[in-house]
This record gives sequence, structure tokens and C-alpha cells, in this order.
Amino acid sequence: MPFAATILTLYPEMFPGPLGTSLAGRALNEGRWTCDPVQIRDFATDKHRSVDDTPAGGGAGMVLRADVVAAAIDAVAGASESNASRPLLAMTPRGRPLTQARVRELAAGPGVTILCGRFEGFDERLFAARAVEEVSIGDYVLSGGEMAALVLLDACIRLLPGVMGAASSGDDESFESGLLEYPHYTRPYEWEGRTIPEVLRSGDHARIAAWRQHRAEVDTRSRRPDLWERHEDARVQSPSGARNEMEDD
Ligand code: 6GU
Repeated sequence: MPFAATILTLYPEMFPGPLGTSLAGRALNEGRWTCDPVQIRDFATDKHRSVDDTPAGGGAGMVLRADVVAAAIDAVAGASESNASRPLLAMTPRGRPLTQARVRELAAGPGVTILCGRFEGFDERLFAARAVEEVSIGDYVLSGGEMAALVLLDACIRLLPGVMGAASSGDDESFESGLLEYPHYTRPYEWEGRTIPEVLRSGDHARIAAWRQHRAEVDTRSRRPDLWERHEDARVQSPSGARNEMEDD
């Protein structure tokens, strides 16, 4: 069964969007995932087809109505048993930050149903009433959840079997080990007076692996002290990570 993505949105024309090209687009054409955007407005009940209303308590902007969005959720969940079994996510800056670990779990499952908000967001009651998992893609504000949904889907799709080939099977990538990835270089050897680290031309695979591990650690420590601290904490718990001779503490 392909990985099934159903997206509830006021802008269904944004899907698959960029995921119709490149790697994800090929995977879509090969049937490795499916993309089913659903127009939330189709579930409005009044003659103006309204999906939002003014915030209780006053203030700027508009809030997506729980009744209309719930009707859309229930319709897609009822469409098939596999739909009902998929995680239901809402893209919102108030959500839990997305991690590679969560992406891996989602990609290993049957697919996702994703709610994309606009305006000030959803009526809060919706989340408990339909067991919605709120997800954020970072500490900045987007004008809507659609771009965030595209980001989440891209991260999942590249992990699907047969999508990336050898490149994704490597556990070298940033975050897979809890560290940033080591830096890459290619020809020409000298460019604008800058050269490639000699070790990478040595042909000594053990030395190259040690150098890459060292750079992953040094760069993580300086660029992402938050990641580095978590990595070190994990190491204390399971002291399998042998320290190599390039470490200078
Ligand atoms: Cl998931 N949605 C929106 N609308 N804004 C965001 C976000 C999500 N993550 C960060 N900013």
C-alpha cells in the first residue's frame, strides 16, 4: 500500500505543488505515495459557505470553525478504514516541534491526514474532540499551514522505500545520529584559492570516517549546542560511543 496523504485545506490547489516535481514527483508518478487534497469549504453548511468566524473574546483575525472542520475530518475518515487509522495532524506554530524521529515514524506508517489552518487558527475544541496532533515546523510564523504540510510530506516521502536509493539509506545524514552531518566537497581540488581537506584525498577509508565523525561533532558543538548537549547526555546513558584520537575536548 502506498503512503497516503490527505490534506484538508482552503487551498487544495497548493498540492502536490512542489512535491509534484523532482524526487517526490517521481515517487508520486510511481504510486509510492498518494496526494488527496480536500477543500474544507465543501463542508460548510450555511448559504455563504463560511468556514470561519470572529474570535471569542474579541481581537484581530478570524478562527476556523470546529463544526465545519470536524465535518471535513469525519468525511475523509469515513471514506475508508485505512483513512481512519492514519494519524491526524494539524500544522500550527503552537504544535510540538517536528523532529526526524517523528518523521521516521510517520513515514513507516500508512500515511497522514493533515489539517492546514489559515487566519488565526482553529477553534481549540477541535483538537481534543478529534484527537488531533498539533505539529510546528519551527519558531516562526507562516501565513498558513500548507507550506508546513509540504515540508512535513517532503521529509516523509524521501524516506519511503525505493524513493531515494542509496543516498537515504546512509545514517550519515544530519539528525539521524543526533549530530549535524559532516561537510561535503567535490572537484575542482582548488577553487578561488581554497582547497579540499587533504584527508579526503588520502584514500584511507578509516581516516576519512574518523575525520567525518570528528567534523560532525565539532560542527554540532559550535553550531547547535542544543543538539550537542542531547547527544552527550545520550552517550552517558549508553557509553558505546568510543571517543577517537581526533577529539581535543
Ligand atoms: Cl506548522 N503552521 C503555521 N501556520 N505556521 C508555522 C508552522 C506551522 N510552523 C511554524 N510556523
